[in-house]
Amino acid sequence: MSEPIIIDCDPGHDDALALLLAVGDSRLRLLGVTTVAGNQTLDKTTRNALKILALAGAADVPVAAGSARPLVSDLTVAEDIHGASGLDGPDLDVPVAEPVGVHGVELMRQLIVAEPDPVTVIATGPLTNVALLLRAHPEVMPRISRVVFMGGSTDRGNSTPYGEFNIVTDPEAADIVLRSGLPTTMIGLNVTHQALATTEIIAEFQGMGTRLGTICAELMTFFASTYRREFGFEHPPVHDPIAVAAVIDPSIIQTVAAPVAVELTGTHTRGATVVDLHHRTAGPATADVAVGLDVDAFWRLLMTAVRKVGDAT
Ligand code: RIB
Ligand code: CA
Repeated sequence: MSEPIIIDCDPGHDDALALLLAVGDSRLRLLGVTTVAGNQTLDKTTRNALKILALAGAADVPVAAGSARPLVSDLTVAEDIHGASGLDGPDLDVPVAEPVGVHGVELMRQLIVAEPDPVTVIATGPLTNVALLLRAHPEVMPRISRVVFMGGSTDRGNSTPYGEFNIVTDPEAADIVLRSGLPTTMIGLNVTHQALATTEIIAEFQGMGTRLGTICAELMTFFASTYRREFGFEHPPVHDPIAVAAVIDPSIIQTVAAPVAVELTGTHTRGATVVDLHHRTAGPATADVAVGLDVDAFWRLLMTAVRKVGDAT
């Protein structure tokens, strides 16, 4: 029985791989995609989500644009990493459908209410839409089985010394989600930095002999250039598909239940995820925090899905 999921994302090179994994692995049933401002502005992340789904032969999956800005902070996009389009690198000339005519939060609500089974919400961008869903429609919470999000870190950050981009972009939203009481899995930089798109991975994408494989190779080549320039990484970490992989096969990550607080007022640390791994502070565990990743198993999952989707389109 396939697991019903919704993906809330800000494509974004690694978000694109997350979408392809969700479309390509039959253990998931992608009910819909909602978009949020983050890596790029909302119009661009929405168009990018539509393009990736069209390229994956999944143009029938409903897409709705969500929040154009964080709850409190001003929006700062990651053009230095993802480029002006948000998916720089390949030529993504593909006819796209229009997004559905409701706000992303409303689409999430509709899909959750209509689904007989509890829905897993996978978030790979700032948590603005998810937070708004929980606050505007608390009645759907019993129908959400888990929120799995890529964000935060048990150690250093990327957007700031101690802040990871998705959380730094909208700290208040992350705080709302983490204090919601919903089962939550946090996939932070401490594990995503282990999933590097090496030259061998890029060659494997290219060697698939499909348009989609070539597009993924070109996406990762661009992503590698910006990660090398901005962070000195030899190869780029593909953060977001790990959140999807963890839903497909939970054994792919090792987690510990821990209290996770979001710093909201620190001058230098706003947006940091303060993960109390040793339970030194009072308070219940608020998330299952990923502390380990089966890197080889992850890449096998992703490459199998991209190959399958590419061969079918
Ligand atoms: O810090 C990495 C995260 O921020 C990823 O989700 C990436 O796509 C960006 O959104
Ligand atoms: Ca993302």
